[in-house]
Amino acid sequence: MNVHVYENFDTLSKEAAKRVEEQLAEKKASVLGLATGSTPIGLYQKMSEGVKKRGMSYRYVQTINLDEYLGLDPAHPRSYHTFMEEHLFKHIDLPEANRHLPNGKPGSVEEECLRYERLIDSIGPIDLQILGLGTNGHIGFNEPGTAEDEETHCVQLADSTREDNARFFGSIDEVPTHAITMGIRSILKSKEILLLASGKNKAEAVKTLLEKKVTKEFPASFLWNHDNVTLMVDREAYGLVD
Ligand code: F6R
Repeated sequence: MNVHVYENFDTLSKEAAKRVEEQLAEKKASVLGLATGSTPIGLYQKMSEGVKKRGMSYRYVQTINLDEYLGLDPAHPRSYHTFMEEHLFKHIDLPEANRHLPNGKPGSVEEECLRYERLIDSIGPIDLQILGLGTNGHIGFNEPGTAEDEETHCVQLADSTREDNARFFGSIDEVPTHAITMGIRSILKSKEILLLASGKNKAEAVKTLLEKKVTKEFPASFLWNHDNVTLMVDREAYGLVD
């Protein structure tokens, strides 16, 4: 795992966007794996600026998102479909047909998980996967206890995750209890992974990750089993590392 420490969220976001843009320069029809949450918002702003100011294009790109809340319609204001639309998709020239997220209101959850994993395998492998880091070490919504060989599946969200995400909803009671997420195995199929972490509230998780102990109790530690991962952190998130 390569580790890069940046001054602040802005420089981290800028460098992450630079890597995305290099990837597109290498391969116009790249497959990007995307995350939601606060961490990639800066990156998505820089990617959007790239289209407006630097002539970047996502015309041939395909995107595959990590996860979606179960029970939320794509049009729901707090769905990850809506999040992606607001923070990225409406600002770039990515064709609608090339944007992929799990359906949070499927007829059959099991079928939807299978469909999504097949999609990853048919469009992928993902060239560059963007990940955020949960305070409890989750990646995607793979909560502590997840096995390394899980593919796309339905998860019950940890209480701490629902608390962390309550800020996007009115209250914790409105945060869905379940989600569909790419599994650890689905994530590790990616050719390259950028794990982003910013702010003091991630410092404990970053410290744990860098202890290199691979355990299902801290799912991000499975990233040590991949040979092309870059951890991009800001000073605050790196603050507890000796
Ligand atoms: C989001 C996701 C999650 C977040 C993680 C960090 O699609 O899968 O793993 O990346 O919860 O969230 P933030 O960035 O809001 O701290």
